[in-house]
Amino acid sequence: MRLVFVGPPGAGKGTQAKVICQKWKIPQISTGDMLREAKTNGTLPQELVQTMASGGLVPDAAVIELIRARTEKDDAKNGFLLDGFPRTVPQAEALNKLLESRGTELDIVVALDVPKELLMERACLRRTDKRTGQIYHLKYKPPPPDADLEHRADDHEEVVRNRLDTYEKMTADLLPFYEKAGLLKRIDGVGDVEEVTKRVVSALEQVKRLS
Ligand code: AP5
Repeated sequence: MRLVFVGPPGAGKGTQAKVICQKWKIPQISTGDMLREAKTNGTLPQELVQTMASGGLVPDAAVIELIRARTEKDDAKNGFLLDGFPRTVPQAEALNKLLESRGTELDIVVALDVPKELLMERACLRRTDKRTGQIYHLKYKPPPPDADLEHRADDHEEVVRNRLDTYEKMTADLLPFYEKAGLLKRIDGVGDVEEVTKRVVSALEQVKRLS
């Protein structure tokens, strides 16, 4: 299974990706996580650190190269879940080319729909356990007392607002691109995490039945 998760900041892509990847035994490939890791290691160029801190998108060429290299690894040979990539039509076109050159293709693009008023709360109250990578929410999924919590640098109100604006501009073209290709499945991302998971699993099982 080769799939893409698209959705605004705080939609639940990372949360759902972890469950789906465990179920389908495929790696979760998140460009956001890879960029943050590079920042922590000190290998992310300073201008990209600033782009991320302000809520903008890093250049297409940089994330395309990350994806090319990561999807070449052995654990991704039989499938993967791309979380947060592609975000622009040029990224989507580059991905198509890459998969075509390997004789493969995407099975489905899942878009998680969540209204804007919920996204701000989801992103600003998110906390991640540095040791386990587990995602928590101060209101909806409180962390255990021994968690080593991190508040993401871009999860503050003003930056989240910019990220939401960037997302709106970016998907204006991206979702129609995948709709035209017959790959887009829109899923209601409102409700309990488990409820949303059921919707995603049902969409993926349908693809599996058809393939
Ligand atoms: P990235 O890390 O990809 O961030 P994002 O797309 O903005 O998404 P988030 O990680 O904020 O949200 P999510 O949908 O994963 O939500 P989560 O599951 O954590 O990108 C960061 C930056 O990197 C970008 O701004 C850009 O600069 C750069 N970048 C990355 N990819 C790029 C690309 N392809 N091109 C260019 N630049 C790129 O959930 C959020 C919270 O809600 C959590 O606390 C969770 O517990 C809670 N929650 C989840 N589901 C539910 C639910 N159903 N009910 C209640 N609470 C819930």
